[in-house]
Amino acid sequence: MKNKNKEKFNFKNGWKNNPEGEGVEAKTPFKDFGTERFDPERYYSKEFMKLEWDNVWTKKWLLVCNVNDISSIGDFYNFKIGKESIIVIRSSEKDVNAFYNVCPHRGNRLINEDFGFLEKIGCSFHSWVFDLDGNNEQVLDKETFRKEVLDYDLNLSKVRCEIECGFVWITMNDKAESVREYLGPVATYLDNYKIEEMKVVRHVNSLWKANWKTGLEAFYETYHLSTVHPETQPMMEDYKVQIDNWGNGMNRMIVPFIIPSVRYEDRSTVNESTSFLLEDVGISSEQFNGNIEDAKREIQIKKREISERFNLGYERYTDAELTDSFDYGIFPNIQIGCHPEGVFLFKFLPHPTDPEKFYLDTTINYRVVEGEEYSVPAWMGLPEDTDKSGKIRPEIVYYDENEKPDLGLILEQDSELIPYVQSGIRSEGFRGALWSEQELRIRHFHYELNNSIRSN
Ligand code: FES
Ligand SMILES: [Fe+2]
Repeated sequence: MKNKNKEKFNFKNGWKNNPEGEGVEAKTPFKDFGTERFDPERYYSKEFMKLEWDNVWTKKWLLVCNVNDISSIGDFYNFKIGKESIIVIRSSEKDVNAFYNVCPHRGNRLINEDFGFLEKIGCSFHSWVFDLDGNNEQVLDKETFRKEVLDYDLNLSKVRCEIECGFVWITMNDKAESVREYLGPVATYLDNYKIEEMKVVRHVNSLWKANWKTGLEAFYETYHLSTVHPETQPMMEDYKVQIDNWGNGMNRMIVPFIIPSVRYEDRSTVNESTSFLLEDVGISSEQFNGNIEDAKREIQIKKREISERFNLGYERYTDAELTDSFDYGIFPNIQIGCHPEGVFLFKFLPHPTDPEKFYLDTTINYRVVEGEEYSVPAWMGLPEDTDKSGKIRPEIVYYDENEKPDLGLILEQDSELIPYVQSGIRSEGFRGALWSEQELRIRHFHYELNNSIRSN
């Protein structure tokens, strides 16, 4: 590997995307998360899976869906997490309720669809009916129940639910702080993207043969890019990546785009990837005379022009936010790749029983722009036939563990690799991960995981 572009690395400083960066680009000060190595059993044991269920999944705030997935009264979304299915449903213009998806009579699941619309919640076993607040409205043949039985709570079991940053969140923990407090500074940074104005235009759910953390960790670092995704090298700086860690396990990496990796030989001539991005905003790459740095600048200027023209309010973004990838990590299981045109949401969901399987649930939340001349950025990788009107909420496309998920080249490369990582972690010869400071978000994640397990 060529190192001529590399500067000396000091782990206490890390990298700063913008040396003068303040506000959203401010680098969090160094905090020591140590150098410990953890027992790999956390990636496969049922005991550890149970610890996570008791201390993480049932205690933390969990991201359910985009608030526009349940925009009208009666709209619901079925959120599956481990053994639970939780229904979030809009009960009024302002309110959203969440219930365990279970009938208090004999335990039947009330809703089996992923999402939809209901005027009342009815049970398919003995026709009990509940209103959108979960109150029981009908017990069939009520006279055949003894009074003592009817005196029990006949309503649905509620779950805490809040709307924040354009998403619906639930927690099974009645004592949890508000979502906003939980998210800390990340809430403000996400607010800027106005996700409540974005619509899901693509939703893919795929089952992977690995622990959910094995999956998440591959999305929390760029250290593997030059090896697994070499095609990113001409367009992405994978080495000098700013990493920020906040409280409650929130973190971020800022990956500079439209600048080749330090590992890449020619970092100035406009290459194929840069030409593609120039063309994408309507600049002819053939007539473009500058170098890559100029191209990045031009693309930023052009995006601001597009914003003016379509009234998109990009003044609220820094130049870096216009072009680079701001990837926010929300403990326990979320990564959100943020761009003004849309955000890519990745949820890593544990399998109900098998610690060595997880669901990768990905949505593209897209800012619908009215106007024939506005074109959807090609780098978003939306399939040709995608409906971008935002009027129809797309069905979830499912892939089982033996299918190759249609997620674009990069994620397909990951999906091929990650089961091998899981299999290796299982070996007696593996003594626990040795993380570099490029993988600091992973270390920070485990620091939070350990704290959650210890403190409850
Ligand atoms: S289980 Fe729902 S009405 Fe009987
Ligand atoms: Fe990857």
